[in-house]
Amino acid sequence: MKKKKIVVIFGGRSSEYSVSLESAFSVLSHIDQEKYEIYMIGINQKGEWKHFEGDIDFIQNDTWDYKQLHSVYINPDVSKHCLIEIIDKEIEEIKVDAVLPILHGKNGEDGTVQGIVKMAGIPLIGCDILSSALCMDKYRAHQLVEMNGIKTPRAVYLENYQAYHMKKQDILSLHLPLYIKPLKAGSSLGISKIESFELLDEAVQHGFQYDDQMIIEEEIKGFEVGCAVMGIDDLFVGRVDEIELSDGFFDFKEKYSLQTSQIHMPARISQPLEEKIQETARRIYKILGCRVFARVDMFLTPDHEIVFNEVNTIPGFTAHSRYPHMMQGAGVDFQELLTRLIEMGIEDANTRTI
Ligand SMILES: Nc1ncnc2c1ncn2[C@@H]1O[C@H](COP(=O)(O)OP(=O)(O)O)[C@@H](O)[C@H]1O
Ligand SMILES: [Mg+2]
Repeated sequence: MKKKKIVVIFGGRSSEYSVSLESAFSVLSHIDQEKYEIYMIGINQKGEWKHFEGDIDFIQNDTWDYKQLHSVYINPDVSKHCLIEIIDKEIEEIKVDAVLPILHGKNGEDGTVQGIVKMAGIPLIGCDILSSALCMDKYRAHQLVEMNGIKTPRAVYLENYQAYHMKKQDILSLHLPLYIKPLKAGSSLGISKIESFELLDEAVQHGFQYDDQMIIEEEIKGFEVGCAVMGIDDLFVGRVDEIELSDGFFDFKEKYSLQTSQIHMPARISQPLEEKIQETARRIYKILGCRVFARVDMFLTPDHEIVFNEVNTIPGFTAHSRYPHMMQGAGVDFQELLTRLIEMGIEDANTRTI
């Protein structure tokens, strides 16, 4: 049987560029090469799209971006279903079967790349435009989830910098400690935790370097739990994991070094509680319109209340990342997971007629 040609996109004009390289390296090392022919597209930090054909180690150590690489684009002309590679000023059309973006954060996980893929009529492996954009927006995702009866942290939304001054009283009425977060970011970049209002100004200034909107949230006591979800109508969930922090919060350094924190998979909770978290994750996934895969993050309070935190529509995919690990806990190894996601995305695109 002819192998399906799958485009894996990595890098991206995002503060999480380096995380994407790690995730992509791991996806590319685990994808079933017997079934799939891989076509790699790297997007560098300038936003240039290039066809990369070399050893995937160059991706991992960020030396993939040679001058000689050909430019490549997704052709938005839906009658073609192809990529356009520019070779010596000539255009070559390359037919492909699906696109799997392994991009984190802005310009990749936020509906932008998903829009280009949809426009081209090429099957997309992952969440579509709306759910990707919605899940990147921590405030609007919270509103929608809360409307459906699931708790979210008490928060003040800053739609721009002026709103910081206009809403000062609302902010001061929140209970410390607070989390000051850019509305659309990831990997904890731009996030500060403050225990005193004296540090508010500095934290807000810092956050605004990452996005032009912010959300200021009360701290949820307890710990963060995550649930890996895959599927379209019938959802399959992984085991629930738990983040044990010894200090501070799960910031960028901790996420990628785990120096003082630990991830327990499965979480050290009872089975009924795990099932309740899985059920809540399924509901959140559906409320936000997620498709194919996403990781739903929540907090579990000491009273066993579940509070929504966020959905990562393209969660970390390194071999030690939480999403593949949770799926492995439920009996699906990394290679099998990727095969299931790819086949599900292709089948979904091919059965949708409108
Ligand atoms: N309201 C909150 N209560 C407690 N901890 C929080 C809260 N918001 C964020 N955190 C901590 O900050 C981390 C990063 O916040 P999160 O909203 O998940 O942003 P990111 O998209 O960068 O992962 C979380 O993993 C958690 O440790
Ligand atoms: Mg998070």
